[in-house]
Amino acid sequence: MRNGTRHAAHGTMKPAKRLDGVEISLIRQINALATSESLNLGIGEPNVEPDETLRALAARAASSGSWHYSPNAGALSLRKRIAARLDFDPKTEICITAGTEEGLYSIFQAYVGDGDEVLVPNPGFTSYPTLAKLAGGVAVPYDIEPPDWNLNPKAVLSKITSRTKLIVVNSPSNPLGSIASRQTLESIASAGPLVVSDEIYREIWYDASPPSMLGMSRNVIVVDGMSKSHSMTGLRLGWIVAREEVMKPIIVAHQYIATCASVFSQQLTELIFDAKEWNASWLERVRAQFREQREAALYSIRHELEADIQPPAGAFYAFVPVPACDTVIFAKTLATDAAVLVIPGVAFGSGGEGFVRISFAATAETIGVGVERIGRWLRATGR
Ligand SMILES: Cc1ncc(COP(=O)(O)O)c(C=O)c1O
Repeated sequence: MRNGTRHAAHGTMKPAKRLDGVEISLIRQINALATSESLNLGIGEPNVEPDETLRALAARAASSGSWHYSPNAGALSLRKRIAARLDFDPKTEICITAGTEEGLYSIFQAYVGDGDEVLVPNPGFTSYPTLAKLAGGVAVPYDIEPPDWNLNPKAVLSKITSRTKLIVVNSPSNPLGSIASRQTLESIASAGPLVVSDEIYREIWYDASPPSMLGMSRNVIVVDGMSKSHSMTGLRLGWIVAREEVMKPIIVAHQYIATCASVFSQQLTELIFDAKEWNASWLERVRAQFREQREAALYSIRHELEADIQPPAGAFYAFVPVPACDTVIFAKTLATDAAVLVIPGVAFGSGGEGFVRISFAATAETIGVGVERIGRWLRATGR
């Protein structure tokens, strides 16, 4: 018997129990069905390329910046720039992370223990329930209802028990595109438990800038980052803002996960924040591009799928009802038969059954042709 086989037989290669039932996400499974013919409306990152200025800033960060560890919580100079816009202490209340995802992981590791309950949106971002489970906790979904997907504070507050450790709020929402009102956010902030406000889509809005939960109460933890606003998903740069007493254990967890975020990405982010005028116009351009793509998506969804959905107020997703069926089979068959990738709504929780997430982080042409293919396929299969 070769070594590996013997170890497997003895169970030494069996993954830890905490990974039971944790699988590669449905989003990855659908993306794995892509071929060169596929039109991808399943994308979770901006279809925005860096302009000349951004590339020049990156070259500067690479040629003149440090290659060494930064403090665990990130370079103080970057923390100061983030704190400059807020009433928070850069020394103790900001932590730079390897993307929002690592920030979320650190928060969950710091606060969620065996049997602790974490309230998560349903439908909501796929990571939250898994992060709760990996920390030994239990995800308790709170429902967000169609057709407008407005977060109702009562749906959240009614789920609070003595075991509730964290409440996760995500506005603008992935996958719903809805934005929670200030009043709603305030009532959740003052409910008692720690609140994690995932504001990664805060710069991607269409009519009005979304309210932030920053400063609404001392138990609010905000996570944000550069992935969506600056199309820097691969550079892994996020941050956490929380009051000192809440932040301390998070920095300890973060230290053992990442040591520190990439110093290159930290330096680039600092240069971006310093280029204030360019940055403001970049964000305007990003929003303008998504506005056009949102219009293209809404038009095609209305005309090809005969679905009249509430226009998403933020992020770059439309959550679209599809004819009654299992949406996982729907999305997989669509990927293989019509070569269009969309994400089945159940990937985001039970409340997503009957819906698919169509990302409009794609050119207007890809959106138009992609949704047309979906419509044609639906008609051809008599749905
Ligand atoms: C709601 C939400 N939170 C967090 C993330 C993770 O982003 P990051 O690239 O900053 O880790 C994503 C990415 O898709 C997201 O949709």
